[in-house]
Amino acid sequence: ISILYYLNTSNVFAHLNLGTSLICVRFSATAAAAQSTEQEPRLKTFSVYRWNPEGEGDMKLPVMHKYKVDLNNCGPMVLDALIKIKNELDPTLTFRRSCREGICGVLMNIGGTNTLACLARIDTNLSKTTKIYPLPHMYVVKDLVPDMNNFYAQYRSIEPFLKQKDASKLGKENHQTVEDRQKLDGLYECILCACCSTSCPSYWWSSDKYLGPAVLMQAYRWIIDSRDEFQKERLDRMNDPFSLYKCHTIMNCTKACPKGLNPGLAIAELKKMLASHNSAEVS
Ligand code: SF4
Ligand code: F3S
Repeated sequence: ISILYYLNTSNVFAHLNLGTSLICVRFSATAAAAQSTEQEPRLKTFSVYRWNPEGEGDMKLPVMHKYKVDLNNCGPMVLDALIKIKNELDPTLTFRRSCREGICGVLMNIGGTNTLACLARIDTNLSKTTKIYPLPHMYVVKDLVPDMNNFYAQYRSIEPFLKQKDASKLGKENHQTVEDRQKLDGLYECILCACCSTSCPSYWWSSDKYLGPAVLMQAYRWIIDSRDEFQKERLDRMNDPFSLYKCHTIMNCTKACPKGLNPGLAIAELKKMLASHNSAEVS
């Protein structure tokens, strides 16, 4: 007999595998709620950044709104609490979310750390308020939604796709050795959440000219791809004082990455490549 269970915001599912048959049981939120009424409420306070560009009165300027959520009726992650606030307390609260699996990028600053709300566990210390802000040093569209236009334009500028000079290769399979493919591990997994770039002081002050760690790591990913034939041009593209060299090896980026990647290392490798590229050009 094996039992597998999982939950979403309003249901708990249990799969009982009895060897010959599989039974799926759903416990609804109503049942859970009935049970929780017997429990002492565990009220946790969330202080959430609110700003509406079309707001009037109180909402003209950014404010922090406090919401109390009973953790007995809430999933374990900060995203669960935000969804509960939106569904039950304040439908005007705005944030981006989609997959709940650490991929779509429900990115924000939670308790002082840039992270994904679906991967951030709620701090169950009820005496502590959890503060939630949009990603730092980004323009805000509304509440917890940052304006990602500049970030995406920078990503577009590095041409994040395979480029080849030989037209006869177009439309055909591009083979790669196992070793060459392994070089892309730790790079291709990036979900472009921008947590690293928005934790980098150099990016805070120069995001108009400095590409930032997320975009630089993707630039590196294409430069070292054995199938790509535009390595020289890609390096030339960032051969100026700002695009790459504005990185001062602060390493906040690597610390911030919720996927455990190392953009700081990718940037260091890029600097080495650009240095040898430049000395080869000189000689
Ligand atoms: Fe997000 Fe990490 Fe990619 Fe930076 S490197 S964009 S923090 S996944
Ligand atoms: Fe910033 Fe990371 Fe460089 S924090 S300065 S991009 S090493």
